[in-house]
Amino acid sequence: MARLVVVSNRVGIPDGSARAGGLEVAIRPALKRRGGVWFGWSGRVSDDAPEPARTLDKDNVSYVTVDLQKDDYEEFYNGFANRVLWPILHYRLDLAEFTRRDLGGYFRVNGFFAKNLERILRPDDVIWVHDYHLMPLAKALRERGHKNKIGFFIHVPFPPEEIITALPNHEQLIPALGYYNLVGFQTETDAANFARYLANERGLRRLDANSFAFDEGDVRIGVFPVGVETDTLQRLARRAVDSTFVREVMGSLSGRAMIIGVDRLDYSKGIPERMDAFERLLTNFPRWRGQVTYLQITPRSRTDIEEYANLGRQVGEKVGRINGAYGEASWTPVRYINKAHSRTALAGLYRAARAGLVTPLRDGMNLVAKEYVAAQNPDDPGVLILSRFAGAARECSAALLVNPYDSEGVAIAIDRALAMPLDERVQRHAANYRVLKQNDLSQWAERFLGVLERPRGAASGALPEGL
Ligand code: F6P
Repeated sequence: MARLVVVSNRVGIPDGSARAGGLEVAIRPALKRRGGVWFGWSGRVSDDAPEPARTLDKDNVSYVTVDLQKDDYEEFYNGFANRVLWPILHYRLDLAEFTRRDLGGYFRVNGFFAKNLERILRPDDVIWVHDYHLMPLAKALRERGHKNKIGFFIHVPFPPEEIITALPNHEQLIPALGYYNLVGFQTETDAANFARYLANERGLRRLDANSFAFDEGDVRIGVFPVGVETDTLQRLARRAVDSTFVREVMGSLSGRAMIIGVDRLDYSKGIPERMDAFERLLTNFPRWRGQVTYLQITPRSRTDIEEYANLGRQVGEKVGRINGAYGEASWTPVRYINKAHSRTALAGLYRAARAGLVTPLRDGMNLVAKEYVAAQNPDDPGVLILSRFAGAARECSAALLVNPYDSEGVAIAIDRALAMPLDERVQRHAANYRVLKQNDLSQWAERFLGVLERPRGAASGALPEGL
């Protein structure tokens, strides 16, 4: 079997820290199973001349990381990746702040990654690049003469052409994906949006249901929804719910029901809208006052970007307002925590919570939704309330699906979840669990790499015909 080299901006270096983000959660187990290299940013920003890449070998995986220079961090990470691509890919044209300088930094860092990666590449390595930070990486590698199989998977949504064409220089950036052999998406909608862009904007010829002819060669498109380790999480949650930590949390609620939300502090997650919905619950359904506590765990992220700092203030204010207006000396309606928690702690809390509130305004997949389902006690499960705009809504269709912009509608769903009879909870959970088991994370990497390594025509994970 060829050696696997995974490349992503964020690398899950095994340093014991609890970090937030679906990409790390998805890649780590897949890479540990097959073994290989994980290459990317060290997470450090340096003022000095670039140092050579550092390597850490652990459990079958070599973690190879490079530092970013200050300008790179500003223009590539904070700039083009997170102030332009992130909002546009999440349908938020209003938040995109484009500058040519940042675009230059984006291409420069992709070139820098290619240059450092080439020092460790072997001709028969299979390269798997992840997410929107690294769209032009294959092009940069091809220009250096590398002929390896290279696949790309985008963890976030891919919006319709009406939105993506608002990205200045999309003509330069999106076709760079043509240097990959396979481009993978979370949902059929994302893949279909990409296919429509290629056909309508670029006039590319379709070779078959899931391939297009680019100047650079044929590119296949596939749908590979990221799953979770369903049974592993179930076992972990069963143990963790009896841990001292979870017992202490539940004990402090004095028998009240708990609703849980876990998200990075990001505007795509719909946290202020969710606070409004919880406030609506307390206003419109007074029977829950004093009966339910909403725990929102929200590690800060991308803190150097103004939008994220503003969001932090906005959420803090809303929490303060709700707790001030409805709280009692003996009851705090919302517990809002910015500390990241370990996977074990979260699994235990998910199982203990009566409802999981996952209401992003737009999300590629959302693994918290799937983890919540995986962690439940099948005989007495909690209820998942899930945004219809999360990729996970396709598979978790037995959740209570909501429109996150409609706070009254979400409040009604919370009321329904808290009052839901046992047999309905069991049925809904069993349906979701079954689907998650069929699409376990253990098969995700094999599915993608299986298609990448096979010749065109033999692809599974294909687009439906006639898009
Ligand atoms: O899962 C989507 C994603 O954008 C990843 O690419 C990223 O690593 C993660 O969210 C967390 O974001 P960041 O790396 O900027 O902290």
